[in-house]
Amino acid sequence: MRKPIRKAVFPVAGLGTRFLPATKAIPKEMLPVIDRPLIQYAVDEAREAGIEQLIFVTGRGKTAIVEHFDTAYELEHTMSGRGKQLDVLDATRIQPGNLVTVRQQVPMGLGHAIWCARAVVGDEPFAIFLPDEMMVGEPGGKGGCMKQMVDAYNEVGGNLISVLEVPQDEVSSYGVIAPGVKISDALTEVVGLVEKPKVADAPSNLIISGRYILQPEVMRTLENQEKGAGGEIQLTDAMARMIGGQPFHAVKFAGRRFDCGSKAGFVEATLSLALERPDMADEVRAIMRRLLAES
Ligand code: G1P
Repeated sequence: MRKPIRKAVFPVAGLGTRFLPATKAIPKEMLPVIDRPLIQYAVDEAREAGIEQLIFVTGRGKTAIVEHFDTAYELEHTMSGRGKQLDVLDATRIQPGNLVTVRQQVPMGLGHAIWCARAVVGDEPFAIFLPDEMMVGEPGGKGGCMKQMVDAYNEVGGNLISVLEVPQDEVSSYGVIAPGVKISDALTEVVGLVEKPKVADAPSNLIISGRYILQPEVMRTLENQEKGAGGEIQLTDAMARMIGGQPFHAVKFAGRRFDCGSKAGFVEATLSLALERPDMADEVRAIMRRLLAES
């Protein structure tokens, strides 16, 4: 019997310099797409996949993320007193004890951030979410990205990475996989991994898109991981060293991905989700038409 995926690590210690000055006093993960902060979308995706414990790897100035998932007594008391519904806060409620934070004191890369969570992860397979990557499942489809990955994990076990195709000239911004045997349309064996390769050296145009299911052994591999691309300790490099010793598969996500680490991607996510919201779609569509006609 495979161990279930109960824990997820969210590396949220990054400084968010690409969104300054917006992120000077608030974490980038708290920037809203319509009326929910970015972190909420990742947490919702985790819960849909059956994940119980959320492990945030945070740093200085990031407490708003933890506050977001706490009970706001004064707010709830005042709202109830005014006869207001509290269900808008439902998504922010966490079972007591199911949110854990660890600190990454120095920004030394994604691999280092994940390693900071080793004591909480313990000896279980676990998920990783990079909240900048917003993954939206198809309506009536196979669920969110992590749900699709957990379904695949239940079939093949081991380690899984979500991947998507990008134009070849964009691969240098990402971790790239070398695909092996194709198991099904959505599932492929991974035989190699390289972080931020030169376009000419990239083994494919399938990039790692910010969702992982990893075996706990990755923590021991990260322990002695040397610095890689950008002078940082890279998760991709540690995973690459595990290939061969452990099964590794890539899952092609059936759904849409928004790169909320970039400003244009953030705007795209906002517009796209607004056009699907029954409470605002008509109004937003009319605004967009007018703006396009005027531009
Ligand atoms: C990280 C990972 C990279 C992955 C990317 C997805 O890179 O290291 O492998 O493709 O996230 O967004 P970063 O964006 O932190 O440079």
